[in-house]
Amino acid sequence: MTKVRHFKSLLDINKKEFIRIIERAIALKQESKNGKINDALKNKTMAMIFKKNSTRTRVAFETAMFSMGGHAIFLSSDTTQIGRGEDLSDTAKVLSGMVDIIMIRTHDHSEVEELAKNSTVPVINALTEKFHPCQLLADMQTLYEEKGSIEGKKIAWVGDGCNMCNSYINAAKILNFHLKISTPYGFEPDKATLALGKENVELCDLPGTAVEDCDLVTTDVWTSMGDENESEKRKNLFKGYQINQNLFEKAKSDAIFLHCLPAHRGEEVETEVIDGANSRVWQQAHNRLHTSKALIEFLLDESN
Ligand code: CP
Ligand code: NVA
Repeated sequence: MTKVRHFKSLLDINKKEFIRIIERAIALKQESKNGKINDALKNKTMAMIFKKNSTRTRVAFETAMFSMGGHAIFLSSDTTQIGRGEDLSDTAKVLSGMVDIIMIRTHDHSEVEELAKNSTVPVINALTEKFHPCQLLADMQTLYEEKGSIEGKKIAWVGDGCNMCNSYINAAKILNFHLKISTPYGFEPDKATLALGKENVELCDLPGTAVEDCDLVTTDVWTSMGDENESEKRKNLFKGYQINQNLFEKAKSDAIFLHCLPAHRGEEVETEVIDGANSRVWQQAHNRLHTSKALIEFLLDESN
C-alpha cells in the first residue's frame, strides 16, 4: 500500500516538491487563462472542516475541486457533530471512508495531527494557531513569478510571530532564502520552529533592520483568530511595527509587498503600501486558487 501524503506543515514536502507544486500552479494558472478544461479531479470529493472563519481558503479549495471536475463539502463545526464534541479520530475514520481528501482549519495544531493519524486519505492543514502552509505556497508562487527564483532572496517579516511567520521560517529552511524577522518583545515565533530554521533566519530588534535591502516585505494582522481578547493591548505594543512607506523604502527599490489578507489598513500596513505600486496582494490571493489545485493534485498522485 502506498503511504498517504499529508500536508500538516511545509515540513511534509521537500524543496523539489515545493518547487514542483509552484511550477504546476503556474502552469494551471496559464491553462485556466487559456480556457482549457481540466477534469483531473473528476469524481473526487474533498471534505472541508472549518472551525474558524475563512474567505480565500474556502473559495480557493471549493473552486479548485469544482473547476477540476470534483466536489467539495463545507463542514462547519457549528452544524456538524464536530461542534458537539465528536472525536476528531472518529471523524477521520468516517470521512476517510467516504471522501478522497480532507482539509481542516482549526485552533489547535494537535487536531490536524490527530486527524491525519486516523485518516486513510490525505489531510491538509488549512490554518492552525501554529502554521498556515497553504498560504506559503501562494506567497512563494508570487515571489517566483515576480523574481524568477526564490533561493538566496532576502525576505522581511515584521509584526506578530504568528502562524504565518512560523510558516515563513519553514519555507526559508526548505527553499533556502534569508528571512529577517522583527517582532515586539514577547511575540516571537515558535521556539522549536525557529530552532529548526535557525540557519536561514535572523532576528532583528528594529523593523528597519529587517526590511533593509529585502526583495520581499510581508506582515500579517496584529491579532490573529483566537487572540481577539488581546486586541487592544496588541494595538499599543505593535505600533512601531507598521509597514508604512517610510519603512518599505528601506527595502530594495523593486521589492514587493505581500500580505496573506485579510488586512487592517492603518494598523499593520498603511494604505500607501498595500495599495501601492509594489504591492502584489491580489496576485498573491488569486494564487491561492492555483496552488490549491496543484496541492490537491500532488497529494492525490499515488506515485509521490
Ligand atoms: N489568507 C487566508 O487564509 O485567508 P482566509 O482566512 O480568508 O481563508
Ligand atoms: N494570522 C492570521 C492569518 C489569517 C489568514 C490568523 O490566524 O488569523
